[in-house]
Amino acid sequence: MQQFVIQGGRRLEGDMLVQGAKNSALPILAAVLLCKGECVLENCPKLSDVYAACRILSSIGCKCVMQGHTVIVQADAPSKTTISEALMQEMRSSIIFLGALLGRTGECTLGYPGGCELGPRPIDLHLQALRRMGVRIREANGILTCTTPKGLHGARIHLQFPSVGATENILLAAVLAQGETVITNAAREPEITDLAKFLVRCGAKIEGMGSDTIRIQGVKSLTGCEYRIMPDRIVTATWLACAAVTGGELRLLGTDAESLTGILDVFEETGCRCSRTQDTICFSAGCPVKALRYIKTMPYPGFPTDAQAIVMAVLCKAAGTSVMEETIFENRFRHVDALVRMGADIRVAGRAAVIRGVRQMHGAQVSATDLRGGAAMLTAALGAEGETVLTEISHIDRGYDSPELALRAVGAAIERK
Ligand code: EPZ
Repeated sequence: MQQFVIQGGRRLEGDMLVQGAKNSALPILAAVLLCKGECVLENCPKLSDVYAACRILSSIGCKCVMQGHTVIVQADAPSKTTISEALMQEMRSSIIFLGALLGRTGECTLGYPGGCELGPRPIDLHLQALRRMGVRIREANGILTCTTPKGLHGARIHLQFPSVGATENILLAAVLAQGETVITNAAREPEITDLAKFLVRCGAKIEGMGSDTIRIQGVKSLTGCEYRIMPDRIVTATWLACAAVTGGELRLLGTDAESLTGILDVFEETGCRCSRTQDTICFSAGCPVKALRYIKTMPYPGFPTDAQAIVMAVLCKAAGTSVMEETIFENRFRHVDALVRMGADIRVAGRAAVIRGVRQMHGAQVSATDLRGGAAMLTAALGAEGETVLTEISHIDRGYDSPELALRAVGAAIERK
């Protein structure tokens, strides 16, 4: 198993190019299933989750080739409508293929996606919505068998919670359905807007993207197109956190400042300085970093749950005590034990974590628990004294494209072994 060996205490300085967004690439890779002809997706990050999505596409008869950071897909006629349990288990968000396969073929059989390190990952909101669109779903022995006996039709769907995945699945099922679909209390994450922009470029009729009410008029067919995946806002937040913990100064290129709502202002509250143009962020660390009296994760445009662990790594060395509340997932403090092993003073009570800033952290042997928890440990290790050995880094490779190369280019001492 690979590991990162990090010598902490090096100040990060220089330019970093931000990779394409995993959480936009994955639903768009599902969406190509809806299109006749060729789709060319640029700025696709080289991640294990992206490779898993390409394997799912190939397994149902699509031609899928990755050349550098470009994925080319031919989805003229999916030959199968079954996704194997093994492929479903490889990637938690593979449920996103359900809406696309139903939209294109009217049927889909797939394994129930497992839970993950963040806790059970229910899909009740996805299934409730699809049933309202005419999908008959049989669940037996962990397999979902979905058919549309009377065809897929539009519906009015109110989401009890603005679920990102449920909003995306409804979008994917609705663009080729009969009639109009209206989603209220839809999730507003920028990655959903990116998916909607891709679908519109392929010929879909979608209004209200980015708002909590999305209106889709079903069309007869969609045609493949060329599309550039948006920059990854959580990777952007990660690099900012790495600069903050090392007292560094970074210029992030190829970002999308608009999508960083709920992120940049948090770093500014900690005393860091951020100036931005549409695609560049100039960032310098606060010295010292200030504590955040209270911050809670919220659906977009609030502070994103995916940045919680990463910002916690910064607060470990802040001047003062911070309180973080995780309102989205029930088990998203699994990185705390590792940060404490590195010298942090953190106490967890239910969905709240109290972080009393310490003057210095020290290196340790720690294991990544999940994607963003692993990124938090990597961040803390860069700002700690001494050597950290970070194992189970396959979690990090799900969402970060060669992070050791990106960080070494701005002065980090990090090796993949
Ligand atoms: C997406 O997951 C992201 N993944 C997650 O990023 C992100 O943390 C999450 O949205 C929230 O922003 C991708 O886009 C691939 P949800 P998703 O449906 O769609 C509950 C990362 O680190 N819920 O908005 O699964 C659910 O249990 C990953 O990149 C139901 O109860 O998130 C959770 O508590 C981690 N029933 C909450 O809603 C449902 O049917 C948010 O889930 C669906 C969700």
